[in-house]
Amino acid sequence: MTSVQAGYENTPYPHYIHPLTDVARLAALGQIFGMQPAAPHAARVLEIGCGAGSNLLAMAARLPGSQFLGLDFAGPDIVSASALAAEAGLKNVEFRQQDLLTWQPGDARFDYLIAWGVFSWVPNEVKNRLLALCRECLAPQGIACISYMTYPGCKQSETLRDLLLMRTAGCAGASEKIAAAHQTLDFLDRACATLPPEMAHAGFLRSEVGRIRQKEGHFLLHDDLEVNRDPFYLLQFTSWAGRHGLRYLGDAEFHAMLLENLPAETARELAAMKLGHLETEQMIDYVVNRSFRATLLAGVEATDGALHPESLARLCFQARLQPDGPWQPGDPEGYFLTTGGKRVALRAPVLIAFLRALAEHPMAFTPFAEILRAAQAAVGREFSDDQKALLCRKLLSLYGGRNVEISASPFLPSATLHTHPRLTALNAALARQRGILATAFQEAAQLGQPEQACCARLDGTHGRAELGAATGWTGEQVDAFLHVLRRTGCLAG
Ligand SMILES: C[S@@+](CC[C@H](N)C(=O)[O-])C[C@H]1O[C@@H](n2cnc3c(N)ncnc32)[C@H](O)[C@@H]1O
Repeated sequence: MTSVQAGYENTPYPHYIHPLTDVARLAALGQIFGMQPAAPHAARVLEIGCGAGSNLLAMAARLPGSQFLGLDFAGPDIVSASALAAEAGLKNVEFRQQDLLTWQPGDARFDYLIAWGVFSWVPNEVKNRLLALCRECLAPQGIACISYMTYPGCKQSETLRDLLLMRTAGCAGASEKIAAAHQTLDFLDRACATLPPEMAHAGFLRSEVGRIRQKEGHFLLHDDLEVNRDPFYLLQFTSWAGRHGLRYLGDAEFHAMLLENLPAETARELAAMKLGHLETEQMIDYVVNRSFRATLLAGVEATDGALHPESLARLCFQARLQPDGPWQPGDPEGYFLTTGGKRVALRAPVLIAFLRALAEHPMAFTPFAEILRAAQAAVGREFSDDQKALLCRKLLSLYGGRNVEISASPFLPSATLHTHPRLTALNAALARQRGILATAFQEAAQLGQPEQACCARLDGTHGRAELGAATGWTGEQVDAFLHVLRRTGCLAG
């Protein structure tokens, strides 16, 4: 057993669910980047370094027609993941204790390959094996999603990691290491607080100290104090992937690729440099001091790499803009409020009608064709092909500005709340064993004590009064919590 494996077996990693790895989202991005990826409800999905499996379990429960395989060399995590799958009655997910270095996929091919929190934190031979596996077992239109630490953001914070490693080198066990790290962080925080403001490093160091201090012990151990923690520039990562026959498809956070999201003057100056798209993204990383990336890779021959706005007509949408005031089809402008409360004016009637129809079901992911029908009904006429093409281009731009969400999988929250509500089988198990819930948006909701007490009784046999008595909540508080669970797809039926 390697020291890395022993580290993960002795101090398990926390239970995370990563929205950016959602295959419904990866499928949408793949289409935007010109691919024909497998439909999320009929896909083969591999997660490497899956830990205790919360991420994969959440997707397996939502997408029963897809097959999921999770690999990790930490035995206790795999036992826990398999037990949870069995308790939740999930037959479409399998977990195997397996060292990535020795795993042979044989003929197995996958439409999606996820490696979250792995690449930067393993030795180089494992990094190479991970990229080789992407090439070897991705289907021709398959997509890999790999996260890693990135420069320049990680460059400055490396000095602090160096110090933490020095101060914890002699510690015997995990808890001693965590305590020594906190002692060092506390000292630095106090020391920097006494420095005059013109010493610019003090402010930066204090904010870094604050960021690391917030991490739970086991996360601190497997992140900042991990033996391997290798950041890469985007250009380094993509050229390494290129040596394995993989191409950079794009960023899992689409908006992060776009110049338009920088201040206008910076965007203009950078555009005038006429750099290639990778070099431009690398420059953006410098402007925003990026420290973490989730990169999508595909086989070199999988796509031409251009953006395909017309693909949006096959996808599902979730509103981020809410109409602000009435609008008639003849009005030149329609007003909307962003999630941050900013008022924006839009001009294209086809877009305004579409967004107003979309906002009718704020939590849902609704297919394009359905929203279009409602929009056309609202304006009393059919849109031309040119108008639909314009709509797709405008929607892509809104997606780039985070003013609409996109998925390849529809979701419609149940309209009613039962008198005796029941959690989905997976959520009942997750709440009991891990203190979290998995939402329909591939997010983990952390449960405090009263929420856990409530969830323990959401088995279809308890009414509002009993839930109130168990939690100490008022009837309104119980209702508010239950409605959040309903809207986020955590309840059964
Ligand atoms: C930082 S954790 C991330 C876990 C999970 N992906 C997440 O983000 O919540 C890294 C995981 O990779 C696994 N791992 C590291 N090296 C591995 C290897 N050579 N073979 C299999 N799993 C490995 C560890 O056991 C650990 O569960």
